[in-house]
Amino acid sequence: MSRWDRREPYRKQARDKGYRARAAYKLLEIEKRFQILQGVQKIVDLCCAPGSWLQVVTQHCKESGLRIIGVDTAPVKPIQDVKIIKCSIDALDLASRIREQLGGLADLILSDCSPKLTGNKTLDRERQVYLAKRSLALSLEILSKGKHFVTKIFQSEQTGELVATAKNHFEFIRLFKPSASLPRSPEMYLIAKYFRASAK
Ligand SMILES: C[S@@+](CC[C@H](N)C(=O)[O-])C[C@H]1O[C@@H](n2cnc3c(N)ncnc32)[C@H](O)[C@@H]1O
Repeated sequence: MSRWDRREPYRKQARDKGYRARAAYKLLEIEKRFQILQGVQKIVDLCCAPGSWLQVVTQHCKESGLRIIGVDTAPVKPIQDVKIIKCSIDALDLASRIREQLGGLADLILSDCSPKLTGNKTLDRERQVYLAKRSLALSLEILSKGKHFVTKIFQSEQTGELVATAKNHFEFIRLFKPSASLPRSPEMYLIAKYFRASAK
């Protein structure tokens, strides 16, 4: 094992198991702790490139009538049974495109968005929290009642605001830092389960 692999064991594991990114292990930990992938048929993965979360989803979700959509501005190599929408999560028509592709509302929305990091911590955090908020807003439009939403969020002064908004819409809220997430990274995951209202 190289020195780099010893420092980053999840990177080597991901390579050995054929995952496109070490991020796969973050979703696997979230699933082990919060059981979000069970029984879901219609799944949307926002900011999905290069596609390791989609790989985990296709391995875990085996319901009949499965529909999986990934969204990213970056290209994603094809994954069997996954439809990719190549656009920004800011696109005004995204909610309607997703509903059309799913043939209705979603059972699960995942979001692992990160902006291109500039090294300016304040700016990077602001941009990431914007993406997390946008993901939540989109979820309120396209999620079925009783279903779940998971998003990455960089810890910042705005984290509390996003958590408070999520609390208004979901019965169960947790912030979780998977061990696969580097300790030096400000990222955490907001797990929001049991959406209260039917999307319009
Ligand atoms: C950490 S990566 C996601 C990794 C992914 N979960 C996986 O397992 O492969 C973050 C992604 O956010 C995407 N992204 C950032 N801003 C975006 C935006 N406005 N719209 C869509 N995707 C965006 C980037 O292109 C990048 O692919």
